[in-house]
Amino acid sequence: MALPDSTLITHIGELVTNDDGEGTFAARTDAALVIAEGQVAWTGPASRAPAADAMVDAGGRAVLPGFVDSHAHLVFAGERSAEFAARMAGRPYQAGGILTTVAATRAATDDALRANLARLAAEMARQGTTTLECKSGYGLTVADEARSLALAAEVTPEVTYLGAHVVPPEFKADPDGYVDLVRGPMLAACAPHARWIDVFCETGAFGADAAAAILAAGRAAGLGARIHANQLGPGPGIRVAAEAGAASADHCTYLTGADVDALVSARVVATLLPGAEFGTRHPYPDARRLLDAGATVALATDCNPGSSYTSSMPFCIALAVRDMGMTTQEAVWSATAGGAAALRREDVGRLGVGARADLILLDAPSHVYLAYRPGVPQIAAVWQEGRLVAGSVT
Ligand code: NIG
Ligand code: FE
Repeated sequence: MALPDSTLITHIGELVTNDDGEGTFAARTDAALVIAEGQVAWTGPASRAPAADAMVDAGGRAVLPGFVDSHAHLVFAGERSAEFAARMAGRPYQAGGILTTVAATRAATDDALRANLARLAAEMARQGTTTLECKSGYGLTVADEARSLALAAEVTPEVTYLGAHVVPPEFKADPDGYVDLVRGPMLAACAPHARWIDVFCETGAFGADAAAAILAAGRAAGLGARIHANQLGPGPGIRVAAEAGAASADHCTYLTGADVDALVSARVVATLLPGAEFGTRHPYPDARRLLDAGATVALATDCNPGSSYTSSMPFCIALAVRDMGMTTQEAVWSATAGGAAALRREDVGRLGVGARADLILLDAPSHVYLAYRPGVPQIAAVWQEGRLVAGSVT
């Protein structure tokens, strides 16, 4: 008997499920999957597929879990293409470039910010992202951070308060005063809109003590901790993440052996953001070293107008495979189940029975093509909670 309002996707050449209970890539060939009530209701061999109300013939193409982009900065105004061009001509990336976007964001109307956010979220959906995390961090006043988070919450439940992105110009002479604002009144105004708190722990942004104090205050206010750590050079960010019980430490570009050990033993997900290394000409993070040490690795875009203006998870997968020592299977796992781990989500990043029906129909026979054909649009269709949100099934 057909399940109520069910859709059968059959003749799937490769179905990536990530659901073997091992926490690693898992797939089956010649498969079928049934969606019902927004969830995966059945998976198995195409020859044994049950009947359903509607049928999609994948024609031998691959189906994957929707990408989980666990790190993005989408609430902003303006752009910084001139800064990018200067970097490509040899100028270094500096954390202070963030202030250009802060000024533009403060001056923007709610509707302008909302329209830019919707544009980027739609861009992500077309490229297969079905779960996205979104940070504040370009407001840096109580009112501008709170409105950034309220806008982010219109597009995702994974909202992150990043008041500690950089010290804004009005606090230049009193950085400690800004830290007190971030962990005091600004946190009080922002916590109701957010699930997470983040700090940019880096030279030129926030040091270890400030980062630890801000994350502790956030946790006391009921937020989960995450951190920007070791992006531009070695530093204390990983230790701070481990001590704060952070779900994820993001960037991880410059790691010591002790940092790698701390990530593994404190079970902090290492979220790698190769778009940022692409956009700043820093070396790519060494995913192989992390994986071989037993760390959980996620891949995300870091989409923002400064360091990484890409919204493309397929681009990040291709970079990770080509330049970070990941296998195609590891990269796809990290872009799906890894992102889910970084957000402490169990319902996404996999396609087992009961998971959210967030899935991608690829215009290719296997996940390998995501890295094998870099830069080529291959996302044929995207479902979010069982609803077709991008592409088409023909
Ligand atoms: O993750 N590192 C800090 N924040 C962003 C960059 C933001 C910007 O340059 O505007 C990042 O790379
Ligand atoms: Fe970032």
